[in-house]
Amino acid sequence: MILLELKDIHKSYKDGQVKVNALKGVDLSIENGSFVSIMGPSGSGKSTLMNIIGCLDKPTSGIYRIGEKQVEKLSDWKLAGIRNEFMGFVFQQFHLIPGLNALENVELPLIYQGITGRQRKMKAKEALEAVGLGDRLKHKRSQLSGGEQQRVAIARAIVGNPKLILADEPTGALDSKASENIMSIFQRLNEDRKITIIQVTHEKSIGEYGKSIYHLLDGEMDYIEEVIRNKAK
Ligand SMILES: Nc1ncnc2c1ncn2[C@@H]1O[C@H](COP(=O)(O)OP(=O)(O)O)[C@@H](O)[C@H]1O
Ligand SMILES: [Mg+2]
Repeated sequence: MILLELKDIHKSYKDGQVKVNALKGVDLSIENGSFVSIMGPSGSGKSTLMNIIGCLDKPTSGIYRIGEKQVEKLSDWKLAGIRNEFMGFVFQQFHLIPGLNALENVELPLIYQGITGRQRKMKAKEALEAVGLGDRLKHKRSQLSGGEQQRVAIARAIVGNPKLILADEPTGALDSKASENIMSIFQRLNEDRKITIIQVTHEKSIGEYGKSIYHLLDGEMDYIEEVIRNKAK
């Protein structure tokens, strides 16, 4: 089943007098349950594409469908609703709130969903246990390593039961051991919970944790590489 479909997506930015064509007719369709890596040189349009997929930005032209919904023309308000219900985000910089402990950081999206007290704590605890941080619930940001902070960020991304995780350079700030740990968490979420994962990376060894690699070049889809045997857990 196709989860997302982008057809002939263009995105241009106006930078003063200069127009930058960041995406020039990208077609992409992503099956439910896939694990996709997007790779490409700096400036090739990876983040622009991720922002469109994540409904954080709209294409200049083209069609974007999520399931049966055509989303490219929806209001910002509706797009926010789709993000909340359907997607979890993971970024290179973990974006945890410094004054809050791990549990409270993970509870945040549930507050926006209107889930109250006890249930919120229970779900947040479960999500932290799923990333191996059941013993770090009360730790603040400054008391967690980079890898642990990213695991808290993943717990925050999955706590609302998303169908899709979008990760832009999730291991960009981590050493190789912590990076592998994050990738095996992604593999587990993909295989056991059937969460679709789309990640951007510029590291081939990280890209190969996906089942396929989409190569962007200068705003266009250059080629798609199927990873024959994705890395062992
Ligand atoms: N907000 C913006 N305003 C103007 N130009 C932008 C903006 N965001 C990205 N660009 C340009 O669009 C192109 C693609 O950028 P980006 O999607 O960030 O690439 P990548 O993530 O692959 O490095 C680059 O030339 C970049 O300078
Ligand atoms: Mg980028």
